[in-house]
Amino acid sequence: MLRLFSVLVVAGLVLACLTSLLLDSYDTSRHLRRSLESRGDERRNRRSSEPPFPGAEPENVFWFIQVSDIHISRFHDPKRIPDFEKYCTDTIDVIKPALVLATGDLTDAKTENKMGSLQHEVEWQAYHNILKRSRVLERTKWIDIRGNHDAFNIISLDSVNNYYRKYSATQKVGSFHYVHSTPFGNYSFICADATLIPGPKRPYNFFGILDQNQMDLLATYREESYRSNQTVWFGHYTTSTVISPFPGVRALMSTAVAYLCGHLHLLGGLTPVLHSRHPGGTLELELGDWMDNRRYRVLAFDHDILSFSDLKFDDWPAVVITNPKDAQYLHPGVEPLGRIRSSTHIRMLVFSAAPITAVYVSVDGDALGKAVSVGGPLFVVPWDPSLYSTGLHTIKVKVEDSAGRSKVQEQHFTLQEDLALSFGFLQSFILLTDHYILARIAFVAAILLNVGILVLFRFKQAPSARGAAQRKHGLFSQACMSLHLVSKINTFYYTLLLFNLCTALGPWFIGEVIDGHNGVCFVFGVFVDGHFLEGSLTYVLGIMQLVFFNMPLTCYLCWSLHQRCCGFSLRSHFCRPGCRWRTLPVHLVMLGLLVWQAYSCYFLLETYGSVAFFLSPVRTWALIMGLLLVYKAWRGPAPHFPDNKSGTQL
Ligand SMILES: *[C@@H]1O[C@H](CO)[C@@H](O)[C@H](O)[C@H]1NC(C)=O
Ligand SMILES: *[C@@H]1O[C@H](CO)[C@@H](O)[C@H](O)[C@H]1NC(C)=O
Repeated sequence: MLRLFSVLVVAGLVLACLTSLLLDSYDTSRHLRRSLESRGDERRNRRSSEPPFPGAEPENVFWFIQVSDIHISRFHDPKRIPDFEKYCTDTIDVIKPALVLATGDLTDAKTENKMGSLQHEVEWQAYHNILKRSRVLERTKWIDIRGNHDAFNIISLDSVNNYYRKYSATQKVGSFHYVHSTPFGNYSFICADATLIPGPKRPYNFFGILDQNQMDLLATYREESYRSNQTVWFGHYTTSTVISPFPGVRALMSTAVAYLCGHLHLLGGLTPVLHSRHPGGTLELELGDWMDNRRYRVLAFDHDILSFSDLKFDDWPAVVITNPKDAQYLHPGVEPLGRIRSSTHIRMLVFSAAPITAVYVSVDGDALGKAVSVGGPLFVVPWDPSLYSTGLHTIKVKVEDSAGRSKVQEQHFTLQEDLALSFGFLQSFILLTDHYILARIAFVAAILLNVGILVLFRFKQAPSARGAAQRKHGLFSQACMSLHLVSKINTFYYTLLLFNLCTALGPWFIGEVIDGHNGVCFVFGVFVDGHFLEGSLTYVLGIMQLVFFNMPLTCYLCWSLHQRCCGFSLRSHFCRPGCRWRTLPVHLVMLGLLVWQAYSCYFLLETYGSVAFFLSPVRTWALIMGLLLVYKAWRGPAPHFPDNKSGTQL
């Protein structure tokens, strides 16, 4: 018991340390202030308030668009394709962006029942046709990159089913650096491509990988980008779903103002926004999906300060206030925020499908009057920033168009650079945790717990029958006794031990990881065609396997054997009225878990085919093993409580 206790204490301590470490890294405001202090040199401060200053001229500003997770599908949501065509035709025509970033998952690449995955040429043709018919490539710079769905079931970049090479606008695989040149400055856009090569079928490419070569390449892009006025990074995966060697991809981005990504679809709509800030100050801005939520984002660099609005398709008018910038998203390390203090006008970009009739601006509730258009979508109204030099203020813009629509945009601003607002804990947890590391730790802990308890009770002396009888009624001693039973009967002990070891070290299944290419899936990674893809989601699936099958199965066997020892049988459980209500729930829970495991087997069959289904120790074989063990527990010879006279071996 002492040993068990000390193990628990150590585990608790480790957990506490990890939690405090995590909490630490989310205290971004503190990091920000620290980075401010270290960078708060005279040079930066001087540059930060050097001209040009935002005024009434339509200069020093350009804007661009991000759209993500389009998921063009041959099976689902027939409106998705025409809506996207309308977007490329009408919306792009209204906004006239300098460039468009389509950050991955251009096509859905799933089977009709949404379980399996493969590249459908018709989906890619549909995407290509939209680009062609809308002539959007002639009207703007269209940069489309691959997401995990665009890499499902592709053995190499040269394979014929890598339709991205044939049908996309960019056709550039791997990371790249694009410089947008304007008369007033150069702006770097760096793509970090973490899609897997080779790309297994779903769900095993949920996490991306950047290996050392790609990190080196990205480091050279970072160097090049020092020559630009500002830098934006973009990619499909959030940084929390990318595996990268030390010091990690977030460190590489630290000189950029923002990292734009998609992939999480706002967690299926559960979170209204997913924005956060890296410890180094870079903003990480996940954009909701086009697929179901029809989201897109307009971003603007105005006098080298980045502003943006997350918008919904066909929801006009749209407003991006570019000066003063939203207080939540300041990056004092790289943005010349001092310019806001010296600006003469409030500036905003206003877009609508119908002509704009009025733009009203107020600050802290006081009307500043109507803003006027100074060319294109840029509206300005004069202001005196010295009135707002301290604290947090609110700016409100109300836009009306000739179609009778109106929109109110309200946001906070501050002229104090040291006033940092931090992001919500949940958003930061989702975007800034290296989830695969957490999953690894949790998986190893769960396996050690499972195996450790079995082995501990195997070698621990069982209490005498008399002692057991005396303490029979304590729940804890009953649990211990049942663990003694399971771990001292060879069939149960060795089967469970082997099964748990196989979950941790052995193959989960062998099969066509990519069509025509056999591979083996372990919890620590996937081998396919001579390549090794480091494990990530596999650990999450491993934890689910342990929590929903391995552990409950052990518990159920313990309980069953204990019941047998006390003289019960399956028949007495179901036929004795008093007994039934007490024991039925336990049987039902176990039945539910067996059904869950059966569903996992079916999922494997649907995603990786029949070979994987039959050659699968941790799925199909485990289900059969579980059924056999349950059968043996109830129909085998009844075990006895250990009796010291005949030794502890049962
Ligand atoms: C961009 O950088 C150049 C060179 O440092 C500078 O002259 C120019 O004013 C910058 N552009 C803007 C809009 O600040
Ligand atoms: C942009 O880059 C080009 C090529 O490197 C350079 O010639 C030009 O001066 C740069 N423009 C500004 C405004 O810095």
